[in-house]
Amino acid sequence: MTVRKVLRMGDARLLRSSEEVTAFDSNELHELLVDMRDTMQALDGVGLAAPQIGVNLRVVIFGVESNPRYPDAEFVPETVLINPIITPLAQTKEDGWEGCLSVPGMRGLVPRFTNLRYQGRDEFGALIDRTATGFHARVVQHECDHLDGFLYPMRIVDMRNFGFSSELFPDDNLQDD
Ligand code: NI
Repeated sequence: MTVRKVLRMGDARLLRSSEEVTAFDSNELHELLVDMRDTMQALDGVGLAAPQIGVNLRVVIFGVESNPRYPDAEFVPETVLINPIITPLAQTKEDGWEGCLSVPGMRGLVPRFTNLRYQGRDEFGALIDRTATGFHARVVQHECDHLDGFLYPMRIVDMRNFGFSSELFPDDNLQDD
């Protein structure tokens, strides 16, 4: 079990565009995913992208059953998504509050597509092709943004809707990440 250090906003490595994975089912890839899962679980994240632990590859993981950082979150299947392609299925966007392990203690209101298709591969190279709505779609967009060097604060439309979780949601008792 290796919980890796999560890079925080301001680290230039979070701003890079990541590289495609070309070899699947390799020891390196499996080891990366063990570390990503350990890190995400240790920090109660709903998702993590490889660049957040300094690995410049197009690999994200996500999934929610129940999470203290997002007490009202809908179920999202545990997923490994590599070399993802996102296709919006409608132009509709919806605002929702996001946090990020690279921006600890903060939340921001971010518009995201509400309906999308995502495609990619898992760590064994098997194709993934799904449609997603709502929070599931939001998580996919947030995680995949990391692969192109975007952090959610860059997507906030009105910066008045960005702040510390403890001030924005004083009654929610959100974990101070
Ligand atoms: Ni994030």
